[in-house]
Amino acid sequence: MTMPSDSSEQIQNSLGDYYATVIDSVGDGVIVVGHDGVITLFNPAAEEITGFSRRQTVGASFDKLFANETALLEIVTKTLRTGITISDHENVMVRSAGRIVPVAVTCYPLVLPNGEHIGAILTLKDITYIRELEAAVRQADRLSTLGTLAAGLAHEVKNPLGGIKGAAQLLERELGQDDEQLEYTRVVIRESERIDHIIRELLELASPRGLKLSPVNLHEVLGHILQLQKHAVADKEITFTAQFDPSIPAIMADAEMLTRLFLNLILNAIDAMGDAGRLTVTSRVLSDYRMSQNERSSRMVVVEVSDDGPGIPREDLENIWSPFFSTKSGGTGLGLTICHKIVAEHRGMIKADSHPGHGTKFTVLLPLIQ
Ligand SMILES: Nc1ncnc2c1ncn2[C@@H]1O[C@H](COP(=O)(O)OP(=O)(O)OP(=O)(O)O)[C@@H](O)[C@H]1O
Ligand SMILES: [Mg+2]
Repeated sequence: MTMPSDSSEQIQNSLGDYYATVIDSVGDGVIVVGHDGVITLFNPAAEEITGFSRRQTVGASFDKLFANETALLEIVTKTLRTGITISDHENVMVRSAGRIVPVAVTCYPLVLPNGEHIGAILTLKDITYIRELEAAVRQADRLSTLGTLAAGLAHEVKNPLGGIKGAAQLLERELGQDDEQLEYTRVVIRESERIDHIIRELLELASPRGLKLSPVNLHEVLGHILQLQKHAVADKEITFTAQFDPSIPAIMADAEMLTRLFLNLILNAIDAMGDAGRLTVTSRVLSDYRMSQNERSSRMVVVEVSDDGPGIPREDLENIWSPFFSTKSGGTGLGLTICHKIVAEHRGMIKADSHPGHGTKFTVLLPLIQ
């Protein structure tokens, strides 16, 4: 029995709709390129990854549209030429609306049932989350190795240091009130105390203290720090601006740790600005932020501490979290390592954005509830 043509067309159409819906629903970008290099299909996920709309792309030349993405072009050209499937999960980036998206790509030949190659199907997977996660794991690994090493060293140094300080104190007592040598014993005692302070911080860094959680009013914590620091730098021309979102509820956190965290960031900003500058602290709520693709989304609070100081050179940016990385003459370089640990213990995230000459912004994300 032959089917009436309009009904067959209907089936064809609805089948076409069905396939289109399937492709549009795929979470990975799908782009189909004909043998002549013209794009014939561009799904919504591809729009999201590349920043191009379907209207801009379907009917346009793939080579022209992606002229700057050499890695991507090479893959598509090769599949079109050879009919081979090619994958690259490491090296491809797509520039889209001012950001660079790392993507995992596979390009398949588009083959008719009779074996004729008529184009290429390109799939793109946004792997930003995977890259961020990999970087976070690498950083945490490095910090934990360094932390363990440093803690071992600290233990070893602690006892002899106590001996040195004790001996210097005895010597001080032996010397007369106005003995010239008193100056030397004081240097020994003062410097021993400095080392002792570093060691205590290091040991604390290496041992998880556990959080003492309670509802914390973030703005109270931040306001308090700002007020004290304003006083401390009253002789300088530093302006403090606070822009707090009043709708932020109390968050479950360790108040003492958060004070330490934000004090470190604010002190760093003040150090960086020298005698004059503008320090801004802002807060807002970020809803439905996902730390990784698989984690359930949770509401986070964002606090940003920005300064208009000299900024951090690009080559230093990845080192600032390491223990003992400091560019200050009297700095121990433990401040940001401690900040990183406090944020991690709160299951949050911290990052630094800085461009030399344009200041520095530290962004802290903390979950509203633990
Ligand atoms: N806001 C900022 N602007 C410019 N550089 C910064 C800023 N914050 C941190 N840095 C850089 O990062 C380095 C590490 O900071 P970190 O707080 O860990 O140590 P530190 O401030 O040098 O010493 P301390 O242990 O006393 O805090 C600093 O020495 C500085 O070079
Ligand atoms: Mg510091």
